[in-house]
Amino acid sequence: MIPKTHRQIRLAARPIGYPKDGDLRMVEAPVPEPGPGEFLVRVVYLSLDPYMRGRMSDARSYVPPVALGDVMEGGTIGEVVRSNHPGFGAGDVVEGPLGWQEYAVSAGKGVRKIDPTLGPISTALGVLGMPGLTAYFGLLEVGQPKAGETVVVSAASGAVGGLVGQIAKLKGCRAVGLAGSDAKVRYITEELGYDAGINYRTTPDLQAALRAACPGGIDVYFDNVGGRITEAVSRHVNMFARFVVCGLISQYNLTEPELAPRNERFVLVNRVRIQGFLVFDFAARYKEGLAQLTEWRRQGRLRYREDIVEGLERAPGALTDLLQGRNFGKMLVRVGPDPAGSGPPGGSARSFTRGES
Ligand SMILES: NC(=O)c1ccc[n+]([C@@H]2O[C@H](COP(=O)([O-])OP(=O)(O)OC[C@H]3O[C@@H](n4cnc5c(N)ncnc54)[C@H](OP(=O)(O)O)[C@@H]3O)[C@@H](O)[C@H]2O)c1
Repeated sequence: MIPKTHRQIRLAARPIGYPKDGDLRMVEAPVPEPGPGEFLVRVVYLSLDPYMRGRMSDARSYVPPVALGDVMEGGTIGEVVRSNHPGFGAGDVVEGPLGWQEYAVSAGKGVRKIDPTLGPISTALGVLGMPGLTAYFGLLEVGQPKAGETVVVSAASGAVGGLVGQIAKLKGCRAVGLAGSDAKVRYITEELGYDAGINYRTTPDLQAALRAACPGGIDVYFDNVGGRITEAVSRHVNMFARFVVCGLISQYNLTEPELAPRNERFVLVNRVRIQGFLVFDFAARYKEGLAQLTEWRRQGRLRYREDIVEGLERAPGALTDLLQGRNFGKMLVRVGPDPAGSGPPGGSARSFTRGES
């Protein structure tokens, strides 16, 4: 039964610093009717991602921000429940940018069908989706690691970072991860196969910890965070090191950016290449990336963790948790029940649904 109304979360105010209560507002709206060439999707999972903080701000970026009053943007997995589109039928499981809401109409732009036999459907927002592709192309194409090199990864237990270290290991590299708790460090070393991990929040001397973990220096730095961690890493680079600038999460909620990193001397002397990238740069090669990630996952060579909150109403708080490092793995919101037959997330993963309280 399709209800008459559904819930949406709209951007009510542009946050200053971390998002706070009132910046996002829940509203009740009529469930839209699909027009000719359109289909209606019931959303099952909403992906929460650090880029969403940028969409809430009107600072200049690579895409325009969400307008005040509009439904928040977000990647979703859902089930087609009604269709006037020749390529999508009722019962299809799809992934696409359908936003923070329980139902959405689409004409198919940016939407792909998911094959539920390839893995739990939630993986299309994680290891077999945008974060997986970011790790894959960012490390292999931008970082160009060679066997025997040392790859350092920040936010190493997260959706992207957890995969980067494992791909580095698959390519014969030494993988060293930085993470924000002892539990996360244990997870990356004991479950993901990182050779060493550093709790950057509690280590008394980050420089000494990096020196100990990277006795041969650093060849590739996969940077998810920016700021002081990047500065610390800069001091241990080898000649012709590559910095893959994937994200700057330590800066997203600052009203004034930090002055770090002050790394020019290390860049100059060591001829370091610093290159930013966006996963979309590799859109023409997604098929190839997904095929490889799917195969590695099937072989049990890529492990991952999902951190699931129940209910759309919890999404705003969960986004702030993500931005403050309180997530542990790929952050998802279960907006509605899994489609019949697709099963809950899991597989070779560890998937945690947070308690109701
Ligand atoms: N370039 C692209 O196309 C692209 C695509 C996807 C994602 N990204 C970027 O990749 C990064 C990781 O994204 P994700 O989806 O995988 O998120 P995630 O790593 O699953 O979650 C974010 C993590 O960032 C860490 N963090 C938060 N605040 C921090 C701070 N002040 N200093 C250091 N670390 C902090 C936290 O881990 P700890 O507890 O370990 O600190 C937190 O768990 C983000 O910067 C994101 O913007 C870029």
